[in-house]
Amino acid sequence: MIVVFLGPPGAGKGTQCKLLVDKYHLEHLSSGDILRAERKQGTELGKQAQSYMDAGGLVPDELIVAMMMKEIQARQNSKGFILDGFPRTLGQAHALDEALKKASKSVDVVLNLAVDDDKLEERITGRRSCPKCGATYHIIFNPPANDNMCDAGCGPLTQRKDDTAEVVRNRIKAYHEQTAPLIEYYRKQGNVHDIDGNAAIEDVTAAVCSVMDKL
Ligand code: AP5
Repeated sequence: MIVVFLGPPGAGKGTQCKLLVDKYHLEHLSSGDILRAERKQGTELGKQAQSYMDAGGLVPDELIVAMMMKEIQARQNSKGFILDGFPRTLGQAHALDEALKKASKSVDVVLNLAVDDDKLEERITGRRSCPKCGATYHIIFNPPANDNMCDAGCGPLTQRKDDTAEVVRNRIKAYHEQTAPLIEYYRKQGNVHDIDGNAAIEDVTAAVCSVMDKL
């Protein structure tokens, strides 16, 4: 099964994907996480992506498509995966469809997580993550048990460099201009399920599971 998770920055895509992978035995493929790992390793791709990410813009399609196709091809025999943050432009969606078609596959379901713009900045600026295990928290909505420390005992939490109010505004703008058109693109394929992401984390999980359980 191939699932595409759409939604604006800070909508809760990563939070929900982490909860879904175990339940449905799917792999989580996050383009943002892969890019951050490339940056950490100091690869050429990581260096090329840096300025776009720090400014809140999208990394050029040719870099992203090559990176994600490599990841997808490496999982040809997998039971399925959730794509989080990819595709993010119509060009990326076309490239994904073509590559899947060659392998006699297609996107099975698109989960469209809708959250009002005025909630996104608070969610993003309050996000904290564990640099060791990748767990994500929120200082108000999902706080760690001990101030700024990972519940798994890994150590202090950190804040993403692009999680500032100024960069968030650019990321939201990029979402509306370049990513939101994908909702109509996939709606024409008939596989979009709209989820109200404004609700509390556990209510969003319940809504997503109710869609997934029927498939
Ligand atoms: P990426 O890492 O994909 O960032 P994003 O899409 O902006 O998404 P986020 O990770 O910020 O949000 P999320 O929806 O996963 O929210 P989360 O669950 O963490 O991309 C980063 C950058 O990489 C891009 O700007 C771009 O430069 C580049 N890039 C990546 N993919 C690309 C592509 N395909 N093409 C081109 N460039 C690309 O939740 C956020 C916070 O809210 C957390 O603190 C969480 O605890 C809290 N929260 C979650 N759900 C709820 C809820 N229901 N109620 C209250 N709080 C909640």
